[in-house]
Amino acid sequence: MSLKILSVKKSVPQKIVSNEDLAKFLDTNDQWISSRTGIKNRHICTSESLVDLCEDAVKKAVEQAGIAFSDIDLVICSTLCGDYLMPSLACCVCERIKISCPAFDINAACSGFIYALDIADGYISTGKANNILIISAEMMSKLVDWTDRTTCVLFGDGAAACIVTKGNAIRYLKLTAKGDTNLLSFPVGTGNSPYKETRSNGFVNMQGQEVFKFAVFMIESQSKLAFEKLNITADDIDYFVLHQANKRIIESARTRLKQPEEKFPINIQNYGNISSVTIPLLLDEMLEDGRIKKGTRLFLSAFGAGLTTGTCVMIWE
Ligand code: UT7
Repeated sequence: MSLKILSVKKSVPQKIVSNEDLAKFLDTNDQWISSRTGIKNRHICTSESLVDLCEDAVKKAVEQAGIAFSDIDLVICSTLCGDYLMPSLACCVCERIKISCPAFDINAACSGFIYALDIADGYISTGKANNILIISAEMMSKLVDWTDRTTCVLFGDGAAACIVTKGNAIRYLKLTAKGDTNLLSFPVGTGNSPYKETRSNGFVNMQGQEVFKFAVFMIESQSKLAFEKLNITADDIDYFVLHQANKRIIESARTRLKQPEEKFPINIQNYGNISSVTIPLLLDEMLEDGRIKKGTRLFLSAFGAGLTTGTCVMIWE
């Protein structure tokens, strides 16, 4: 592998919605949501567009990396759905920050950040790009059904941007995709074609318990593969930076890997599940508070619709 992360910065909408706020219009309560998921609050877009959040995160990431906008030679944006289906969110970002370089969106659902790292690695290792801007950005609030308590309480909105460049931080990266549209999906609306015979509901559908089992199984089995390949054990990892979908998923993985709590950072209580944003957002917070520094050994693991997974081991440079 051939890259390192130079900077990571997050941006979340101003409005914070608590579990109590949701209980005002849904048949739910703080006790259920926090005990079953670990979520207390989530940030939800009001006036902000997704590209607004991206612009804010990108400006901070570029400044932290100490490069100029003009040094960026590729933009990869991981999103389930940008502000437009076309142009891509990556192109909207280029317009905002006034750069002109190849730019495209990818959709690997919640695993998107790790998929983007893998694509970036391909570009850097073949010399096709030097400084790549990776953005994860999700507005889950426009995808969920706000009358469905089984899904809308789980998600939040936000973005995170990072600059990656040539380096040696990534020691292992593996992607998987099972091919499944039953357990977690969002059917795109069918438009107004007079010929279309079926209509979709256009909201997130999820079989939560099945996704839960898939997640716990995959984190454990993919970590074993990674550790075997690298000839290390879980004890050699400083932090397990897992997709923040449910605190109980993280706890189950931790118990199976027989590791102490402090090695499994959790911030789901503040943000809910922001799909592909959760891992870079957590990295930003861990860099800010000093948990990640040069030499820190990280295990990243994400899972999501598809069903996709992404697993990565890196030593921070
Ligand atoms: O990013 C990847 C995507 N998603 C995930 O990774 C999610 C993975 N799955 C999960 O996190 C959990 O399965 C959920 C949090 C979605 C659900 O937790 P659970 O412990 O599996 O609950 P459940 O679906 O078995 O529901 C238990 C009960 C049900 O009531 P009955 O049938 O037992 O009477 C639900 O109707 O809880 C009820 N329920 C709620 N009650 C209050 C479901 N949602 C709520 C709610 N408030 N918001």
